[in-house]
Amino acid sequence: MHYFEYKNGQLYAEEIPVADLVREYDTPLYIYSAKTFRRHFQAFDSAFEGINHLTCYSVKANSNLCILKLLAEMGAGMDIVSGGELFRALRAGVDPQKIVYSGVGKRAHEIQEALMADILMFNVESQQELLKINQVAQDLDKTARISLRINPDVDPQTHPYISTGLKKNKFGLAMDQALETYKLAKELSNIEPIGIDCHIGSQLTSIDPFLDALTKVLNFYEKLKDMGLDIKYLDLGGGLGITYKEEEPPHPAEFGRALSERLKDYDLKLILEPGRVIAGNAGILVTRALYTKKTEIKNFVIVDAAMNDLVRPSLYGSFHRIAPVIQTDRPMQKVDIVGPICESGDFLAQDRELPEIKPDELLAVFSAGAYGFTMASQYNSRTRAAEILVDGEEVTVARRREVYFDLVALEDGCF
Ligand code: LLP
Repeated sequence: MHYFEYKNGQLYAEEIPVADLVREYDTPLYIYSAKTFRRHFQAFDSAFEGINHLTCYSVKANSNLCILKLLAEMGAGMDIVSGGELFRALRAGVDPQKIVYSGVGKRAHEIQEALMADILMFNVESQQELLKINQVAQDLDKTARISLRINPDVDPQTHPYISTGLKKNKFGLAMDQALETYKLAKELSNIEPIGIDCHIGSQLTSIDPFLDALTKVLNFYEKLKDMGLDIKYLDLGGGLGITYKEEEPPHPAEFGRALSERLKDYDLKLILEPGRVIAGNAGILVTRALYTKKTEIKNFVIVDAAMNDLVRPSLYGSFHRIAPVIQTDRPMQKVDIVGPICESGDFLAQDRELPEIKPDELLAVFSAGAYGFTMASQYNSRTRAAEILVDGEEVTVARRREVYFDLVALEDGCF
């Protein structure tokens, strides 16, 4: 059962025709399905119900407050990577004791804010960062609960930009360095090491790399126990992939079973940080065709959404399924779907088979709920798209469309 479905030849978002939403809210338009978010979170979280666990949704995937609130109401924790994401999570009503803070470059004020909020723990990625957290905690007379992020050197077999658990990546600490750093952590006055963390990459379509990483982390955990550390949490990060085209990632239930099986005899609370698997297929981007243009070798459809709205195709060469909002039986054509931005890299699809598109027609770009709006910019002084949340027949403006004033509102220094 899908909540973005064609009925009588036109695309619906839950109970509402997408064309009606566009009439009201214009394009480019992000549309999210509340029921899909709930279903995905539920499916993921319940996959681990046999073991002690906490699902911390990865805020970077889609950080709209309405989405965070919806998930918080279902009991989700959050994985954050900045003071800004902390601010959002707290504003959305997330329990601070369910917040974990990852990332290689936490600033002193961000550490301070997280300590003041009393988050569950910091996932620490270097020795210098650990010392900084200790110092900030000391100044505040607080104790920082931490995990160290291990880099297990496992190949996640995904796009190089979103692989994180390889030796050459900037993330985490190699095992031997991590051991040294745990020794240091044990001695620091305002640090309490309570966990062990790893995240090997994103859009993984097989369970094996997760299991390889888990094996390494569990071996490492034994060493920490021998050192006398009281490790209570094992954070395995996010990374479970979704279907954009023909990928066949494991279902969360299968993923949950495999991990639970490995962990059932350990006295550890498992933390997971899923982002894409919750948000990716819970959102679409709707765009309008402006013009078509034929050259000697290409058919271009120029649309009103661009790489500033959805950068994934330009940045990673990612595939997003695209289809007309109102189905048509016009003959198929091979086209490039491109935006108005002044860069040849500004495309949503290349050499795509689509029915012939006419100006003013609406196109839906699927699987745009994760890393879509959160990676949007104002490049070419384009106002960012509106985001709306559909729940059955109900519509909420989750973020109003930006207006020109939003483009310049912070730039009044020279007037
Ligand atoms: N935890 C950590 C520490 C992460 O760095 C990430 C993603 C996640 C969790 C969530 O991973 P997910 O479950 O969503 O795969 N912009 C890229 C994806 C970047 C992922 C960065 N880290 C894209 O559009 O494909």
